[in-house]
Amino acid sequence: MTALPIAPPPRLLMGPGPINADPRVLRAMSAQLVGQYDPAMTAYMAETQELYRRVFRTANDATLLVDGTSRAGIEAALVSLLRPGDRVLVPVFGRFGHLLVEIAQRAGAEVHTLETEWGTVFAPEQIEEAIRRVRPAMLAVVHGDTSTTLAQPLDALAAICREYGVLFYTDVTASLGGNPFDADGWGLDAVSAGLQKCLGGPSGSAPVTLSPRAVEVIDGRRSIEAGIRDADSEVRADPIRSNYFDLAMILDYWGPKRLNHHTEATTMLYGARECARLLLEEGLDAAIERHRLHGAAMLAGVRGLGLRPFGDLAHKMNNVVGVEIPEGVNGDAVRGELLGDYGIEIGTSFGPLHGRIWRIGTMGYNARRDAVLTTLAALEQVLRRAGAPVVAGGGTGAALEAYEGGA
Ligand SMILES: Cc1ncc(COP(=O)(O)O)c(C=O)c1O
Repeated sequence: MTALPIAPPPRLLMGPGPINADPRVLRAMSAQLVGQYDPAMTAYMAETQELYRRVFRTANDATLLVDGTSRAGIEAALVSLLRPGDRVLVPVFGRFGHLLVEIAQRAGAEVHTLETEWGTVFAPEQIEEAIRRVRPAMLAVVHGDTSTTLAQPLDALAAICREYGVLFYTDVTASLGGNPFDADGWGLDAVSAGLQKCLGGPSGSAPVTLSPRAVEVIDGRRSIEAGIRDADSEVRADPIRSNYFDLAMILDYWGPKRLNHHTEATTMLYGARECARLLLEEGLDAAIERHRLHGAAMLAGVRGLGLRPFGDLAHKMNNVVGVEIPEGVNGDAVRGELLGDYGIEIGTSFGPLHGRIWRIGTMGYNARRDAVLTTLAALEQVLRRAGAPVVAGGGTGAALEAYEGGA
């Protein structure tokens, strides 16, 4: 077999992520490599740390990239912060809450869950009551759960976490850069993200930030691997249960010691740095407002077509909407036709929502008026052919009205 050069078909990715990467991010990622300890590389690392402090809105010194997709960041945070037997409370309101449970269990933690129907979130009092009851070492909660399109309010939870000495972790993979978030203002101890949603990059790098309190826990677990340790290095019988995701060693690599761990994924670092640089150049508040505007236009358009949005819209993320598949319509066939005839991808869904909703994203590089209008126009045609009773011109019309009214 002769493999031809890569030539992906043109696509407009309007699902829940990944979305089309910003061309400027792709350009940054085509830059040549430098050595791992080249002063240029260590300067890029330091700049990337500072950029992500601003993106997370934190003063945390311990702000860095974990190499891997978003779940690498989640796994690094949970396996490094949770000792086997530690109690962790996970409020689950979608698929990614289940992922936190799964990862915490594999880290050996004693996992306690709260569950709510998909399409709803928790009242802060429900989480507070569970913290009082369970007395966990950590509260681990997804901020925006892409599977249901909703965001869990987090700002009220810090006080209770402080009162009971609970570490507060959240996964902002789906929400960061497109929805209000304030790591320090909301009292977070550990936060992990990814690039492939509102940050407009490819998946493969997980920005993480850790409060001094979290770093203290991780420092207390430091065990330096053989081959790089010296006489003063800590060695423990019960080290963090993953070498790759050992944040104590990763912190030593990103910190002034520059102690060797993995070989930093240079190309991903270029991409992650550019994602944050572009976001901050636009202005964090302006980027969030852009996501709000285009998300509101998409929501208006979906309704204008006569379709029903899914879930508790008071808690919908700006950047994605769930759309109920009309009675009698084959959801996968509609997605296939959108892709085949228009080159547009929208998302399917998982678990209890599979076959019930599509998920349509307006995020990162694709949080744009032309992308919203094109998607709605194509969706109308595909739905009409599928026999769904859509309102002619109703999608683009409602979106345009939303834009005119500032949504
Ligand atoms: C909220 C959330 N967390 C975690 C993940 C997992 O990310 P990845 O596939 O990059 O590992 C996703 C992916 O969609 C997500 O939306």
